[in-house]
Amino acid sequence: MALRHEIDDGIGVLTLNRPEVMNAVNRALLTELHGVLQAWRFDRTVRAIVVTGAGDKAFSAGADLKERATLQPDEVRQFLTLIRDTFALVEALPQPVIAALNGLALGGGLEFALACDVRLAAESAAMGLTETALGIIPGAGGTQRLPRLIGPGRAKEMIFTARRVGAREAEAWGLVNRVVPDADLRAAAIAMAQQMAANAPVALAQAKFAVQHGLGVDLASGLAIEGKAYEVCTPTADRIEALTAFREKRKPVFTGA
Ligand code: COA
Repeated sequence: MALRHEIDDGIGVLTLNRPEVMNAVNRALLTELHGVLQAWRFDRTVRAIVVTGAGDKAFSAGADLKERATLQPDEVRQFLTLIRDTFALVEALPQPVIAALNGLALGGGLEFALACDVRLAAESAAMGLTETALGIIPGAGGTQRLPRLIGPGRAKEMIFTARRVGAREAEAWGLVNRVVPDADLRAAAIAMAQQMAANAPVALAQAKFAVQHGLGVDLASGLAIEGKAYEVCTPTADRIEALTAFREKRKPVFTGA
C-alpha cells in the first residue's frame, strides 16, 4: 500500500508510505490519495486530518523521478493535472488538514504541505522547491501558494536557488507554524487535530472557506464572504448546543448538524 489511511476517534491520518524511495509520489500513490480524500470529504466521522510520511527520513521527496523518466509528455500532463486537482481538493476539504513534516519535503512533497492548512515540522525536517534544478518549475501550486504564505521575495529565493530550508528557518519565515522535537511530532499533530476536531464541524468548514476564498480579494469582498459563511453557521443545531452548554456550564457536544 503506497498510502496508509486510518480514522481514529475522529482524526483521519494519512501516511505516505513508500519509505524506500523517500515517499516519492508516483501515479499509484497519487490515485490512492485522491480516492481517500474524495471519500473523506463527505465522511462526517472525519473531523480533522493529519498527513505525514512513513519512516524518519522524508515527508516526501516529491514526484517519483524514476517513474517520470518513463512517462510520455501526455502522461506527464495527466500526472500534473491529477496532482494539482488533488492538492486543490485538500484545500477545499471541509475538514482542517495538518501536515506533519517528519523529514525532507521537496518539490511536490512541499507543495502538498502548502495545500494543507497548518504545517508542523520535526526539528530535523528540511524543505525546498527543487524543480528549477531539474529543468522544470513547481507544477502543483508551489509558485502560487508559497508566495502567498511567505511573501514573494522569500518564495522567489527558494524557487530560484532550489535550496533546502531547515525547520527553524522555515519557522522564522512562517513556512511552518511550529517546530517540535522529532520524537514528539506525531503526537503534537494529533493533539492539534483533536483540539480542532472538538470544535463545530460546520464552523470549521465555514472558517476554512472564508479564509481560503477571502485571500486574494479586496477587503470588502472578503468581509462579504465572511458574512455569507457566518450565515451558514447561524441555523445549525451545533450553534444552539454551544449556547446551551455555556448556560449549563458544560462542554458542548457537536454533531455537525
Ligand atoms: N523519486 C524517486 N525516487 C527517489 C526520489 C524521487 N523524487 N527521491 C529519492 N528517491 C530514492 C532514491 O533514488 C533512492 O533509491 P535507490 O536506493 O533505489 O536509488 C532512495 O530514494 C534514497 O534516496 P538517496 O538519494 O539514496 O538518499 P539521500 O539521502 O542521499 O538523498 C534526496 C535524498 C531526497 C535528497 C535525493 O534522493 C534527491 O535529491 N531526490 C530528488 C528530490 C527532488 O528533487 N524532488 C523534486 C521532484 S520534482
